[in-house]
Amino acid sequence: MKLPYAEPYKIKMVEAIKRATKEQRLQWIKDANYNLFNLTSDKVFIDLLTDSGTGAMSDAQWAEMMIGDESYAGSSSFLKLKSTVQRITGFKYFLPTHQGRAAENVLFSALVKAGDVVPGNSHFDTTKGHIEFRQAKAIDCTIDEAFDTSNLHPFKGNVDLNKLETVFKTHPKENIPFCIVTITCNSSGGQPVSIENIKAVSALCKRYDITLIFDSARFAENAYFIKKREVGFQDKTIKEIAKEFFSYGDGMTMSSKKDGLVNMGGFIALNDEETYKKATTFNIMFEGFITYGGMNGRDMGALAVGLDEATEFDYLESRVEQVAYLGQKLVDFDVPVQQPFGGHAIFLDANKFVPTIPREEYRAQALAIELYIVGGIRGVEIGTILADRDPVTRENRYPDLELVRLAIPRRVYSYNHMDYIAVALKNIFDTRNEAKHGYNIVEEAPIMRHFTVKLEKI
Ligand code: F0G
Repeated sequence: MKLPYAEPYKIKMVEAIKRATKEQRLQWIKDANYNLFNLTSDKVFIDLLTDSGTGAMSDAQWAEMMIGDESYAGSSSFLKLKSTVQRITGFKYFLPTHQGRAAENVLFSALVKAGDVVPGNSHFDTTKGHIEFRQAKAIDCTIDEAFDTSNLHPFKGNVDLNKLETVFKTHPKENIPFCIVTITCNSSGGQPVSIENIKAVSALCKRYDITLIFDSARFAENAYFIKKREVGFQDKTIKEIAKEFFSYGDGMTMSSKKDGLVNMGGFIALNDEETYKKATTFNIMFEGFITYGGMNGRDMGALAVGLDEATEFDYLESRVEQVAYLGQKLVDFDVPVQQPFGGHAIFLDANKFVPTIPREEYRAQALAIELYIVGGIRGVEIGTILADRDPVTRENRYPDLELVRLAIPRRVYSYNHMDYIAVALKNIFDTRNEAKHGYNIVEEAPIMRHFTVKLEKI
């Protein structure tokens, strides 16, 4: 008999999570104005709001915390992190920041100006925010396959080379500060980008003399997918694959809260000395001196160890395959989810799940609320509420997809938790036709309304 899979770690410390009754949750979610962001964490049984900063550190990382060097300048923890980043990414210059959006703020302050365009594959919200804040425009060049949740393309994060070249041809070079490729692509569902595509994007960028930057929050998960799915990479290590794709670009921004396996942190890595020097000034202004950039010494040490752990095959296999295990359970129950499964999350397709709820009544939000009521599970709506209103007409913008993201924290939940989530969803799915109504908005902010929106049940 073939031995079943078992995680390559054991547990040294546990954290209790509270169970509650459905009646309690009905009251709590009403008190929270049907906004899952308003729930305090003690009212959540399984928290899938995000995989960002919610992972469990290893004993080796905690040990590193104890020998953190808190010197303002030139700490040994900084040097340890810098050499790890250089070894793993191959980039020459390094600047720590307190998280991913801070890295964007610093780098884009150096590179992006009003009137610019920044092409890429479905830019993450904060990336787009930092581009638009500078009166520049983010242009989405993701392949069309990404927007069909049942299309089984193995690299749905890929950039459409024709779309990208059109951007290069129709804008002067001076207005394209860089092209940004997000690996894996969070906004299209944690979908990977192939090395073949990265190489082609790199060649195109070189032809038009455009800088190539990676938004690398989940770069290790991207490398895992390349090893598993792309011909010619089966025998390469994760570290070799990561080093290879980084070699095709000029720099990266990083949210260390994902594949850095830490709870807070970020960085920028670059090859160009001029850009590094410019970014340095903004780093000192916004983040802190260049050898800490908003991070504690101990946290830089833990990140150095985390980056090495996150780029090991055994860890990534346990991580990505746990997400896929949940996805497969849901598919077996006929629950409509995005496929192939993403690296960090499973996305429920609310248009297929609850078509009986009108779109004007926020069907993805209704599904996320139901999952909380039934199972105490907190996911997040990626649909009409998140898409905000049109800035001119103030009408709701209806995105192509109405999704609920179930982001799985790293090394936190067990396979039993996955089974629990799957059954909660199956039970909701079995009675889905009874769901006829969703929610009305009673109060909302002019932008980024999803964080604070207040809703009422119809
Ligand atoms: N880039 C990507 C692809 C991200 O997913 C995120 C954050 C960031 C940049 C910004 O990094 O949070 O450290 O400032 N994503 C989180 C999420 C918030 O839930 O997907 P940050």
